[in-house]
Amino acid sequence: MLSFSARAALLAFLLLIASCFVDASRAQSPPRRATTCNGSPDLCNRSFGNVTFVGAHDSYAVGVNSLATNQDYNITQQMNDGIRMLQMQTHNLSGVIQLCHTSCSLYNGGPLSTYLATVKSWLNVNPNEVLSLLIVNSDDFPPTAYDAVFKGAGLDTMSYTPPSASMPASQWPTLGSLIDSGKRLITFMDASADFNTVPYIIDEFINIWETPFDVTTTFDCSVNRTQGDSSTQMYLINHFLDSFVLGQPVPDVSQANQTNAASGQNSLGQQLSLCVSENGRSPNFMLVDFYEYGGGSVFEVAASANGVSYSPTTPIATPIPTSSSTTGSSNDAMPMSARWSVASVMVTSFTFAALHLL
Ligand SMILES: *[C@@H]1O[C@H](CO)[C@@H](O)[C@H](O)[C@H]1NC(C)=O
Ligand SMILES: *[C@@H]1O[C@H](CO)[C@@H](O)[C@H](O)[C@H]1NC(C)=O
Ligand SMILES: *[C@@H]1O[C@H](CO)[C@@H](O)[C@H](O)[C@H]1NC(C)=O
Ligand SMILES: *[C@@H]1O[C@H](CO)[C@@H](O)[C@H](O)[C@H]1NC(C)=O
Ligand SMILES: *[C@@H]1O[C@H](CO)[C@@H](O)[C@H](O)[C@H]1NC(C)=O
Ligand SMILES: *[C@@H]1O[C@H](CO)[C@@H](O)[C@H](O)[C@H]1NC(C)=O
Repeated sequence: MLSFSARAALLAFLLLIASCFVDASRAQSPPRRATTCNGSPDLCNRSFGNVTFVGAHDSYAVGVNSLATNQDYNITQQMNDGIRMLQMQTHNLSGVIQLCHTSCSLYNGGPLSTYLATVKSWLNVNPNEVLSLLIVNSDDFPPTAYDAVFKGAGLDTMSYTPPSASMPASQWPTLGSLIDSGKRLITFMDASADFNTVPYIIDEFINIWETPFDVTTTFDCSVNRTQGDSSTQMYLINHFLDSFVLGQPVPDVSQANQTNAASGQNSLGQQLSLCVSENGRSPNFMLVDFYEYGGGSVFEVAASANGVSYSPTTPIATPIPTSSSTTGSSNDAMPMSARWSVASVMVTSFTFAALHLL
């Protein structure tokens, strides 16, 4: 049996040892300081609200020879190539949050849980990247339903929670601090976000304004949708061109090279210049279809807006040739026929007629 003073001395000794371990573990993991952020050292000190990101419109709607797809490549390839905002539309399929296009019978891109697992895997192997999600909450699931799926994917703990429900562009943290804190997933939702229940599902329109969507003619830079002050908010340009097939707007892949280009009529570069001239600053997000058309031009436009160089470490994906349903050498009489068979147009057109295709 130790005396009281011996026990006190032993306890003091043990505490000293313990405190050394605590100090040692602190010394071993100082706050990380990212030196490269989203591919560039120059972006680490830049506010998230002062960076231009390329986004994939309907990122989950992948495939060729379909009226209802907007991308040729899956989200892993999209992110590897430089897409840093993934836009998606959710639907209620028997109670499950599912990524469908307009309706699940038209295009079913699988459950959100599978999609988010892919996002998590990608973030894990790309620790110096900040990624945004933009959810179009078509069937009005409550934020708590999303929270459960984010938790299941392990993405709740990687999600950035702003200090308040809305913030002007200038108040957003730097990419470096987002990366250092490990909170490098920024999620926006167009409807039913609630800061008081799930604060990391951020209300889109009190933070971001958008230009018109479903454009079939020329891109402008007008404020189409917002619920805030567009002079201080971040903003998003919907730079994807539709054309009419049997009276319904569908993605116009035949123009995608030009639409995505750095310069020229109706190009991404042209819309960006127009926006800079009207707003005095670049858009934060540029949503495109078939992002790889243009051979990386969409990323060149973003890099140039950010004042950094575009230097991909590996070549980006190339457009997937569409199958031709016609035997003739020219598709001039029906440009869409290269991508979609007449039959599929006929079969799906009634669905488009009834439902607005975003
Ligand atoms: C970021 O800014 C801080 C000072 O505000 C500076 O010490 C640091 O070197 C900068 N980092 C980069 C990567 O430019
Ligand atoms: C995504 O696409 C790439 C090719 O671009 C392919 O290698 C990969 O297997 C795909 N991933 C899934 C989950 O289908
Ligand atoms: C989703 O659909 C199911 C029926 O399939 C319904 O019970 C549930 O209330 C719906 N959820 C929402 C958020 O509307
Ligand atoms: C927003 O854009 C949509 C589609 O382009 C259009 O139908 C709508 O009238 C626009 N609304 C405003 C307020 O500009
Ligand atoms: C787009 O550009 C690529 C590369 O120059 C070319 O191979 C492809 O045929 C073009 N596609 C269209 C639809 O113009
Ligand atoms: C970032 O700030 C610079 C300098 O004010 C500006 O030229 C640029 O357009 C801004 N970019 C964004 C996305 O706000």
